[in-house]
Amino acid sequence: PETGCLSIIVLGASGDLAKKKTFPALFNLYRQGFLQLNDVHIVGYARTKISDDDLRDRIRGYLPNGDNGTEDVENFLLLIKYVSGSYDAPEGFQALDKAISEHEFSKNSTEGSSRRLFYLALPPSVYPPVCRMIKSYCMNKSDLGGWTRVVVEKPFGKDLESAEELSSQIGELFEEPQIYRIDHYLGKELVQNLLVLRFANRLFLPLWNRDNIANVQIVFREDFGTEGRGGYFDQYGIIRDIIQNHLLQVLCLVAMEKPVSLKPEHIRDEKVKVLQSVLPIKDEEVVLGQYEGYKDDPTVPDNSNTPTFATAILHIHNERWEGVPFILKAGKALNSRKAEIRVQFKDVPGDIFRCQKQGRNEFVIRLQPSEAMYMKLTVKQPGLEMSTAQSELDLSYTQRYQGVAIPEAYERLILDTIKGDQQHFVRRDELKAAWEIFTPLLHRIDNGEFKSLQYKPGSRGPAEADQLLEKVGYVQTHGYLWIPPTL
Ligand code: BG6
Repeated sequence: PETGCLSIIVLGASGDLAKKKTFPALFNLYRQGFLQLNDVHIVGYARTKISDDDLRDRIRGYLPNGDNGTEDVENFLLLIKYVSGSYDAPEGFQALDKAISEHEFSKNSTEGSSRRLFYLALPPSVYPPVCRMIKSYCMNKSDLGGWTRVVVEKPFGKDLESAEELSSQIGELFEEPQIYRIDHYLGKELVQNLLVLRFANRLFLPLWNRDNIANVQIVFREDFGTEGRGGYFDQYGIIRDIIQNHLLQVLCLVAMEKPVSLKPEHIRDEKVKVLQSVLPIKDEEVVLGQYEGYKDDPTVPDNSNTPTFATAILHIHNERWEGVPFILKAGKALNSRKAEIRVQFKDVPGDIFRCQKQGRNEFVIRLQPSEAMYMKLTVKQPGLEMSTAQSELDLSYTQRYQGVAIPEAYERLILDTIKGDQQHFVRRDELKAAWEIFTPLLHRIDNGEFKSLQYKPGSRGPAEADQLLEKVGYVQTHGYLWIPPTL
């Protein structure tokens, strides 16, 4: 592993993302010993003129047990300095460079390294000027070696064209290996497990294809609305907020071919191929919804047609998947909060138990909450009678991995950026291919050609979505409920 001075610069330091995700993730890494005291320093940068202590006070309450003032918390906060300045003028960035360099050249710091990680916790509209400023004034000192990396997060544009424009603006300044595009779903434990599950188990290899799998669902549900974020959300909608990025990334990992090796480029090559094999989405295979009351938010226009719910069927045109619908579904203000992958197998040919059965085999990967994998099976109902019942093989993480803390997505991803591992980040061509899939549909929605159906908050979403699922061949299991084990 590399050693020497590591500077983590959080731009947009007093914003929501920084306070809620970036700093807590850095704190957790610090607590686990990944950020060594003498080698790491953190600089917050934003426009507001405040002192180092002011920033620390703003962050403290967001750290676990932060308000109790534990030693860990206070020591961590002491690593943080603050520099204020604008996002498009040299002065601020010159001051920032000075603050970073002071540490790099200080006697305490290990010599021979200038590693600079810029975390842009900022709206994408300022990515280009900020990247330009970093490039002009804040690059790592080449006589010390090291590197400069930038971390950015969605929304990367609003459609193919704007995303490509943003990509090329950043691409003129930084090489692809310096750019880390976060999709935090790639940092989730069970998403990272997909690669292992699929390619390290003989069991799945012969089954994972159109001969055996009837359909795949990738589902995201939240049981709360867009409270407090209506202004942002209304400009994007659920497809841009969740489906085009988070769910599509999961789809890639479920559907891709085996990569040549575990090298990040090999894995990302396979993901791109899947995206490029997706056929154009058909209007009749999309249902959009908007929950009643969404427009009561004062920051949402009264005539908004922005979907807060969507189901879309994707078809992958290749040898493995032709004919298998991939059902992507996401919604806000629904009846439950969960994210899962549901792989439904075909019926047993010539099934002698057909009239008794409750349903098909389904392999479910529960991403959250209660991380688990379970395989729905038909078994003999225990007892004297020869009847069948739906049961499951259950690998529930709380039970199987007692006492193991599952890291937060951001924690893992920030660590990857320090290590220089881009496997769990979105490559430019991947981003482009993802936008190609959804842009025609998004344009039709934006032009008002596609209406969102109303649904009741706390419901399953529009009934039309369930009908669409049935139409493409999803068979619901009746009278069966998976119950996560309690300890
Ligand atoms: C974000 C979306 O990317 O993901 C939010 O912008 C959403 O709308 C969130 O609530 C969900 O993340 P998680 O990790 O809670 O599933």
